[in-house]
Amino acid sequence: MSKHIALGVDIGGSGIKGAPVNLKKGEFLHDRHRIPTPQPATPDAVARVVAQVIAAFEPSKKTPVGVTFPGVVQNGIVKTAANVDDSWIGTDLRKIIRDYAGHDVHVLNDADAAGYAEFLYGGAHKREGVVLMTTLGTGIGTALIVDGVLVPNTELGHLQIDGADAEEFAAESARERHNLTDDQWIAKLQRYYTEMEKLLWPDLIIVGGGVSKEHDMFLPKLRLRAPIIPAELFNSAGIVGAAAYAAARVKAEEAHTKKQAKKSTPQDV
Ligand code: BGC
Repeated sequence: MSKHIALGVDIGGSGIKGAPVNLKKGEFLHDRHRIPTPQPATPDAVARVVAQVIAAFEPSKKTPVGVTFPGVVQNGIVKTAANVDDSWIGTDLRKIIRDYAGHDVHVLNDADAAGYAEFLYGGAHKREGVVLMTTLGTGIGTALIVDGVLVPNTELGHLQIDGADAEEFAAESARERHNLTDDQWIAKLQRYYTEMEKLLWPDLIIVGGGVSKEHDMFLPKLRLRAPIIPAELFNSAGIVGAAAYAAARVKAEEAHTKKQAKKSTPQDV
């Protein structure tokens, strides 16, 4: 695979999807490969499927591979599992996938990947200031990008508002669970985004997740200070963001190794 290609894999509740990404354009190079998420979605079962998705594209050893996870991922380790099997907590995600796939990977939170993709290629296109990405799905995922720097694992879907976890009442899944009419759900979204604005003062808010396809139904009705726009990458954001993140990490690691090598080489005197 060429220098401008990386592979992204998105671990979701119902499917594990991957595709090679053209990093110049932020677009898939081939149709994505999807395998249903195994149930129970334990670390071993999921890692095995992620390895199958990676293998489907036969990446060369040098191709960066990024993988998203729907929970906090800190230094490769899963720290929370709000909507996935509890056995994930404490799992070394990077290592377990590397072991199954026989290929190094970089791992990050799913909303962080989506936000990074929107920042590089989508609605926030390299915008300065404070960009808040929210994904509305089973849970609420958030990504905060400040002057182009991703602040990882913000987890603002779990903010306590009026005594409840925000994703419990404002996520897309809450609509069905509580049988909300459109207007009732929009009122919940208004409450959520008003609180976000109060705390973060974003310059731009992006809304992703499956429901962003219906943005005409709810975005124009929200009264906020910052512009609030739909995500542009829709379903591809997780995969594209994971691929771009992995490529950036590989580049940073190579630069670091070069610097270290220079330091340890005796200099001419
Ligand atoms: C998790 C986040 C995740 C979001 C979307 C939340 O429940 O805590 O880490 O980004 O769901 O999957």
